[in-house]
Amino acid sequence: MKHTTDNLRTAWFEFWRAREHAIIPSAGVLPDNDPTALFHNSGMHPLVPFLMGESHPEGVRIANAQKCIRTGDIDEVGDASHLTFFEMLGNWSLGDYFKDDQIRWSFEFLTQVLKLPVKNLAVSVFAGDDDAPRDTEAAEVWKSCDIADERIAYLGKKHNWWAKGDIGPCGPDTEMFFWVGEDPAPANFQDTHDDPRWVEIWNDVFMQFHRDAQGKLHPLPQKNIDTGMGLERTVVALNKMSSVYETDAFASLLQKLSELSDKPEIANNPAANTETARSARIIADHIRTATIILADSVAPSNMDQGYILRRLIRRAIRHGRKINMPEQFCNILAKTVIDQLSPTYPELKWNESFVLEELEREEAQFQKTLEKGEREFQKMIEPLSCPPTPSCHPERSEGSSPSCHFKSRSSCHPEPTKPAHRGGAGRLDSGSQISGADAFHLYETYGFPLEITQELAAEKGLTVDEKEFQRAFEAHQALSRAGSEQKFKGGLGDQSETTVKLHTATHLLHAALRKVLGLHVEQRGSNITPERLRFDFSHPEKMTPEQIAEVEQLVNEAIQADAPIHCEESTVDAAKEAGAIGLFEHKYGDKVKVYSMGEFSKEICGGPHVQSTGELGSFKILKEEASSRGVRRIKATVS
Ligand code: ALA
Repeated sequence: MKHTTDNLRTAWFEFWRAREHAIIPSAGVLPDNDPTALFHNSGMHPLVPFLMGESHPEGVRIANAQKCIRTGDIDEVGDASHLTFFEMLGNWSLGDYFKDDQIRWSFEFLTQVLKLPVKNLAVSVFAGDDDAPRDTEAAEVWKSCDIADERIAYLGKKHNWWAKGDIGPCGPDTEMFFWVGEDPAPANFQDTHDDPRWVEIWNDVFMQFHRDAQGKLHPLPQKNIDTGMGLERTVVALNKMSSVYETDAFASLLQKLSELSDKPEIANNPAANTETARSARIIADHIRTATIILADSVAPSNMDQGYILRRLIRRAIRHGRKINMPEQFCNILAKTVIDQLSPTYPELKWNESFVLEELEREEAQFQKTLEKGEREFQKMIEPLSCPPTPSCHPERSEGSSPSCHFKSRSSCHPEPTKPAHRGGAGRLDSGSQISGADAFHLYETYGFPLEITQELAAEKGLTVDEKEFQRAFEAHQALSRAGSEQKFKGGLGDQSETTVKLHTATHLLHAALRKVLGLHVEQRGSNITPERLRFDFSHPEKMTPEQIAEVEQLVNEAIQADAPIHCEESTVDAAKEAGAIGLFEHKYGDKVKVYSMGEFSKEICGGPHVQSTGELGSFKILKEEASSRGVRRIKATVS
């Protein structure tokens, strides 16, 4: 049987539905109120408050497919297995069933639904340390399911402990592996577990601890199950394919790429080890991810998620030029992604026009500068390739030489020299390196994200002085967090008193903005660190000082009224009818929690919140600024 991402996803939903799980929609890819990451990168990520004890409106058994984005290894994309967007299948018990049921159901799903032969399965369990004992309990359940003793490996924290980050829920886990080798699977798993032909396909986490900011473990109020199965890579393993690009997830996208570039080999052999195939894989991956991010209302920008989005789109466009894609290809590919994934993630369809318009705009803007930037780049590398002598560059004094061939610098430049094309920034560094100032110039003037310059440089055997680039970058404060996805600690994951207060204040701010600016104000993003809240909202222009003062005053009045905060569970329709505001309404499940703060604010939210508004003390707006087109950003604090 050939496995597909569609079939596996459907089988997953059916299996858990039959075991009384509510199938909840995927959360958006942007975390609400979690400053530790730019994007959700696992299924449990949006569920942290519920794993820590908040009640979930859909009950104690839930399952879904979550849109996940990991951009840490963006440079690896284009090889056979790395993806920046992937789907994670997950099921959760929020203080309901635990180890025994989960392992039995896992075994049933693998052997009865996916029909994997037991002889090709192996599992690992936690070997035990000071934090938690050896998980003989999990091992016993596996044995009773017919997994041979020898196919159970006992491994340490590195392998069999899962945590969301430095702070937050965590626990020992048991992982399931499928043998993809041509030879029969080895009998003993402990000794062979790091053979790459054992592919991890599923992870069951026994999430029963919380790690605090000091690194100390505390038992959670409830014992949870958190599981994750990477959809695309599991399909690769089950089919014994060599690449995610051979799965149905990419078939229509690569077909479209083939047609547009008039290169049939792209669809016929997507895993090929050729430059064309690599560029096609990069384009397919990046446009798929860009479509997903755009559909969550993020526009390309020079900050945070918007900057990651811009990097993805621009890198795709550059590779598009390499394989002769026509201009304005991004939104044609995005349409293919939308058609394929909107049955699972309907927000793609709902936001289709935004996705396509933004892609078109970004592509047009970047195309304009790309050629100029590439020419500028050529000028920059000339002094690195040949000495500026009359014999090599008779035309040097007039500027650049398109005929210059790159040679190794050591044989060419005994002395560093200054290029003529631009004062200051174009100095030569020791080694074959493009200076950070030059790379920054390309960024600033032509919108070249660093890695495009790095990629152009690598094609010529050069590197870029990244540190110097970063210094120039920070000096301009163009980027706040992109590239460092782990900078802040805290967020609702830590559920400290301050973060809960700041989150509650966000509700009041949201309500006050709608009262002062109008009902077009909708939440576009929220992020909390222990120091401040940050709230992004739709509004077309800069707020006036009077509007800012009025919003601040309204929030402070609501705090002084000391209204008790009530939580009610209801259906989405009933909540809307009662006047509750919601973030991305379509992403809620059937049941939601609605938090009311007196008459002032009524909003759909997961929690947690303080008991009454008076606990917030006083509220202060620190800053109002642009976030992206049509979106403003407020930073504020309570004390
Ligand atoms: N949260 C676990 C993971 O992402 C299941 O692997």
